[in-house]
Amino acid sequence: MKVTRATFNDVMVPNYNPASMIPVKGEGSRVWDQEGKEYIDFAGGIAVNCLGHCHPAMVNALTEQGNKLWHLSNVFTNEPAIRLAKKLTDATFAERVYFANSGAEANEAALKLARRWALDNHGESKNQIIAFTKGFHGRTFFTVTVGGQPAYSDGFGPKPGAIEHVDYNDLAALEAQMSEKTCAVMMEPLQGEGGVISPDADFVKGVRELCDKYNALLIFDEVQTGFGRTGSLYAYEQLGVTPDILASAKSLGGGFPIGAMLTTAAIAEHLKPGTHGSTYGGNPLACAVAEAVFDVVSTDEVLAGVKEREELFKNKLAEINERYGVFKDIRGKGLLLGAELSDDYTGKARDFLNAGADEGVMVLVAGPNVVRFTPSLIIPEADVLEGLARFEKAIAKVVA
Ligand SMILES: Cc1ncc(COP(=O)(O)O)c(C=O)c1O
Repeated sequence: MKVTRATFNDVMVPNYNPASMIPVKGEGSRVWDQEGKEYIDFAGGIAVNCLGHCHPAMVNALTEQGNKLWHLSNVFTNEPAIRLAKKLTDATFAERVYFANSGAEANEAALKLARRWALDNHGESKNQIIAFTKGFHGRTFFTVTVGGQPAYSDGFGPKPGAIEHVDYNDLAALEAQMSEKTCAVMMEPLQGEGGVISPDADFVKGVRELCDKYNALLIFDEVQTGFGRTGSLYAYEQLGVTPDILASAKSLGGGFPIGAMLTTAAIAEHLKPGTHGSTYGGNPLACAVAEAVFDVVSTDEVLAGVKEREELFKNKLAEINERYGVFKDIRGKGLLLGAELSDDYTGKARDFLNAGADEGVMVLVAGPNVVRFTPSLIIPEADVLEGLARFEKAIAKVVA
């Protein structure tokens, strides 16, 4: 059956408005569409394809597991899930893992666990969740309400309660909100969707101190920053702060849907049998792929390579900007990078994305004013250079 982008409008719910071309094949950091046109992929499926497309280690893990056992549900456990959980706990602060299927679900589990922990330990009144404006935590009704963009949670009826927001990097505002009623603070260690915004040097430490002072749990949403994206397995390692609960997804599966919530043994105790669950969470196919991704991403070579690529991207983008002056800031960490448009181009990030696609390079936006780059963590230098050369052509067209 021949399908086209026009077919999409006839058969799909209109909540997405995808690009006009349809990709059909990918290899490494290159993608081809139905017409055979080639693209360099700086989008990486929104920070997911951390080893590019069809990495042999992932293909092998998937086909090997696919010939053994696909699905059981959590009525039974399985070897890939236990092995992956062992690797995650050995490599992080965490002692216990809960598997889900997406970032939103990992965060949903984190929030429910925090509420249950607070109820068990401190009673009903300790239920306040504080998060940050511009934060993004997923689209379930709880996570989208905790997210800091009301436009995404408005219009669906009564929202989950006891959720407050303060500005990111405003420690005084956080302190003013916090009390013994605070159950948890949820934050991204670098805001992705909100515009690629880094925390100030002492902000995260300050958040940790306030959580300790008021007996609240600190939840790091590392769905976008995690699994090597910022040059360490998780971003918290570089911030000198350890969360109580961490949510991981996106790069964790490298393109196979999986999410994970990581926490300590003492906190995990509060999700007793029957309190939470998922039919697919910990699915053997997903966990086998994620284990293969872990084995590659957690190496010094790959993590050091992320920092090298960050430098290359930032230097080349700065050079391009010397010629066109379209950016007022080039920022981010590792391969979660953002270029904020200068005032003349306010609100036009999507024009750059579209022009990029025309020139054969896929980029993302993070809000109306930031072009975002989240390529494969192992993208070859030649692809970075070729992709940025194409992006420069796109810039030239937008400027003209
Ligand atoms: C920080 C963060 N948290 C949660 C999510 C939601 O993840 P998912 O779309 O897999 O539910 C995202 C997705 O962009 C994200 O960037």
